[in-house]
Amino acid sequence: MIIDVLHGPNLNLLGAREPQIYGNTTLAAIDASLRALGDELSFEVNCRQSNHEGQLVDWIQDAFARHVDGLVINPAGYSHTSVALRDALAVLRCPVIEVHLSNVFAREPFRHHSCVSPIATGVISGLGAEGYRLAIRAIAQQVRTHGG
Ligand code: DQA
Repeated sequence: MIIDVLHGPNLNLLGAREPQIYGNTTLAAIDASLRALGDELSFEVNCRQSNHEGQLVDWIQDAFARHVDGLVINPAGYSHTSVALRDALAVLRCPVIEVHLSNVFAREPFRHHSCVSPIATGVISGLGAEGYRLAIRAIAQQVRTHGG
């Protein structure tokens, strides 16, 4: 059982980037905790980050080709702009969960719209790094209930 986790632009700077909004935890620490959760749940968890829209599209297509059991994505700034990411995600048959560390609805109006949300299975926003862990648990639950 495989879950891919994709992090979009600027999330490589977590820990240093606007800590009052995104917290002090680094991306490396988040990814390590997600892999440990994967071990606990008997899922392989693959985490990747890119600042480039096309690279994220390629990784989504790679997830489709590998028949992953679920995909967790924080599209970051591309959430609000990217038809290309939405189209790539719409091809997937597995659960897709959109995660935001911050509560985007409590922030600037341009963050209230996501191109990705309408095709996501679920959306988690405002729970910090715990949001990724909840997303992985939700996918594991769905796969066990519906057989993937
Ligand atoms: C974010 C929210 C986005 O609006 C922002 O552009 C990000 C991070 C979040 O995790 O809260 O880069 O996706």
